[in-house]
Amino acid sequence: MAKKITISLLKADVGGYVGHSASHPEVITLARKELRKSDLLIDSYVTACGDDLELIMTHKKGINSEHIHELGWETFLKCTEKARELKLYGAGQDLLKTSFSGNIKGMGPGVAEMSFEERKSEPILIFMADKTEPGAWNLPLYKIFADPFNTAGLIIDFTMHEGFTFEVLDVKQDKSIKLRCPEHIYDLLVLIGSPGRYVIKNVYKNKPKIIAATATTTKLSLIAGKYVGKDDPALIIRAQKGLPAVGEVLEAFAFPHLVAGWMRGSHNGPLMPVSVKEAHPTRFDGPPRVICLGFQLSNGRLGKPRDMFDDPSFDLARQKANMIGEYLRRHGPFEPHRLPSDIMEYTTLPKILHEMKDKFKAADYKRIKEKVMRMELEKKVKQRHKIYKKRK
Ligand code: 13P
Ligand code: 13P
Ligand code: MG
Ligand code: MG
Repeated sequence: MAKKITISLLKADVGGYVGHSASHPEVITLARKELRKSDLLIDSYVTACGDDLELIMTHKKGINSEHIHELGWETFLKCTEKARELKLYGAGQDLLKTSFSGNIKGMGPGVAEMSFEERKSEPILIFMADKTEPGAWNLPLYKIFADPFNTAGLIIDFTMHEGFTFEVLDVKQDKSIKLRCPEHIYDLLVLIGSPGRYVIKNVYKNKPKIIAATATTTKLSLIAGKYVGKDDPALIIRAQKGLPAVGEVLEAFAFPHLVAGWMRGSHNGPLMPVSVKEAHPTRFDGPPRVICLGFQLSNGRLGKPRDMFDDPSFDLARQKANMIGEYLRRHGPFEPHRLPSDIMEYTTLPKILHEMKDKFKAADYKRIKEKVMRMELEKKVKQRHKIYKKRK
């Protein structure tokens, strides 16, 4: 246990600057200071993707450590105080509970954690997104760990031939299922093709059984019972030596696939891979963004990260995302740009529908049907009357 290193990524939107577009530098600086003060950690790195504050921490306390979660929670609270002082937008947006009771899960912030014995060389990729939801990782995770057209190593690397197991969470029922691939690829796709409901939580290498990826799966609307901002997700992936290479992991993001989120968490849009300095969604509060920091872990030390999407080879993906975004925007409030109505039930839309309820009048066909029924009834009454008269 003591030998194992744990990476804990805790994230929350504690207030936007300006609107929902970014995080305030003073809030980021404060979070850095708070984590540096702690003697629980080996190392820490604080960044932001749009209005989401990301605390990346390494330690030896294992996953679900009360102390680490409390440190994250207290840091988010202090940052919220700062956000209130600066009157940032939606200060404390993701902090849905008031008092901490042992685990930060279910309190609003997103949590992704993994423990492992550090290999001879341990490249780690951390993805963080804004204006989307945890299911946004389903498609890239499938490509990275199950699709040889993305990951050449699944074919070329002998040690990867046994494949990977996906742990999928049903966010509505709070149940999970493990599917071993490549054997159960079709079953996996049945589920993860519905990313609003089924979300990949963990990916394990089959042989040897080691953790390869873990993601945040918090659904704020299911905790709060209403729309309180999108559950902007994060994801940790280990790479190389029997796992997909760094370039194979990144390759999955060269295609800006459609994800739910964007404006008011109510629109589909392309996920645009950007550098940290470009992770400030502004057009229609988007389009949704993803950043990636690469760390070369050394005895738990994170060191200086590399900004992995700060590379012209992702220009085409960005350009494509802009083109797809522009095309979708022209649909205005129409589906499929706007999310389907069953997902909109967590937004402010049902309130408007409710107000309109009493203004609805019976449609024409209903009135005609009622008239025909009335006429038939009258005819029957008349006939009965005749029979009755005859009998008399
Ligand atoms: P490994 O050294 O991790 O097997 O990676 C091979 C490689 O060169 C990836 O591009
Ligand atoms: P966030 O979930 O990033 O706070 O965005 C909310 C929103 O309404 C954007 O338009
Ligand atoms: Mg926000
Ligand atoms: Mg956000």
